[in-house]
Amino acid sequence: MFKVLFVCLGNICRSPLAEALFVQRIKSQELQADYAADSCGLIDFHKGNLADPRTRQTALKFGIDILHRSRQITQKDFEVFDEILVMDYSVYTQVMAMKPACFDGSRIKCLRTFDPISPGNTVPDPYYQDQAVFEEVHHILDRCIANYLLMIR
Ligand code: 4NP
Repeated sequence: MFKVLFVCLGNICRSPLAEALFVQRIKSQELQADYAADSCGLIDFHKGNLADPRTRQTALKFGIDILHRSRQITQKDFEVFDEILVMDYSVYTQVMAMKPACFDGSRIKCLRTFDPISPGNTVPDPYYQDQAVFEEVHHILDRCIANYLLMIR
């Protein structure tokens, strides 16, 4: 079982959606026995909360009901997960800084580097943006995850 952890800042916008899109693809390809995913954030400000209503609404439009509850990253995550996919370079530097020495840094990756159309380091943070940015983030995440799955399979 290969376990993937998606990480953003608050764990209410980008990473819960990334997790949900990953799980949706895993299920549709009947790969549940081979892959699992979770998500978390750097901060505990939204701990225990459902994803942002704008994230949930966008996901629902595409047939996904996100039930994940926000949680903060812990040291235990470096024991549990095989790969950590982060949403931007700021998150990357902070996850790299907290990883134990035994966790190979090459297992921490910026998800956007898998974007087949517009690769880079950043999935934009939609928190202070309008609904249109949430939809753009959905499309970015969907194609990054589709490509990521092709690469790891
Ligand atoms: P996320 O978005 O990191 O994609 O979940 C944010 C959510 C909350 C905050 C910032 C970004 N915040 O400052 O509370």
